[in-house]
Amino acid sequence: MAALPPIDDATEALDLTVRGFLFHLRRDSEGRLTIAAPHLEGYAAFALDWSSPDVQRRIAGGRKQLLAKAVGLHKKPAATVFDGTAGLGRDGFTLAALGAEVTLAERNPVLAALLRDAHRRALALPLTRDAATRIRIIEHDSAASLAAAQGFDAIYLDPMYPDDGKRALPSKEMQILRDLTGGDADADALLVAARASGVGRVAVKRPSKAPWLGQEKPNLSMEGTQARFDIYLR
Ligand SMILES: C[S@@+](CC[C@H](N)C(=O)[O-])C[C@H]1O[C@@H](n2cnc3c(N)ncnc32)[C@H](O)[C@@H]1O
Repeated sequence: MAALPPIDDATEALDLTVRGFLFHLRRDSEGRLTIAAPHLEGYAAFALDWSSPDVQRRIAGGRKQLLAKAVGLHKKPAATVFDGTAGLGRDGFTLAALGAEVTLAERNPVLAALLRDAHRRALALPLTRDAATRIRIIEHDSAASLAAAQGFDAIYLDPMYPDDGKRALPSKEMQILRDLTGGDADADALLVAARASGVGRVAVKRPSKAPWLGQEKPNLSMEGTQARFDIYLR
């Protein structure tokens, strides 16, 4: 991705062209950093919001839901988790709300800025403050960061699945994410780096029926209604 101007708390309005698509970053009247993509018709600007009903519903699923079990929270609620594909931070925040200490790693600078903004607001809101204190955000390529990930209990990976045109239309957020990042064609290497890191548990979220990441057979898989979690143990 071409170098972008810095995006931080002082950013009020910025128009960016990424991969040929125009994106508008705007600070709204409530001080939230929002993103809009005019090429996606009918999609309003949005900010990442971990207090949203969608995220709160995920949290209500508790430590017995597959996401939590995949990283081992049912056995160790305060596990340290390296989320190597932070994206919109929904899975990472859910894990933090369920007790985990979560490092959110995101390489895309626009998403990293949106995540930092969501984190700042989450720290200020009573509903989300406690979980937000267990989150740390790094703007970095996880394939490189994973070399230093030894201290974690688990690594969580949810790379974007290639758009094969066969799946249901993604949500507006996922569509913007896809256009911003171009997908995660190098995701196989992320699993290689995660398994080489020495961390005992690597959990990979995959669409149901998708092949294993990197054709690597997991030690176990958990099949859900919307996704599958492949677990690699050391
Ligand atoms: C499908 S999204 C993850 C969604 C996320 N689980 C959530 O709950 O919102 C994948 C994200 O991983 C990021 N990503 C992919 N490979 C990465 C890498 N090597 N290092 C850091 N971030 C990466 C992409 O930029 C994208 O934002």
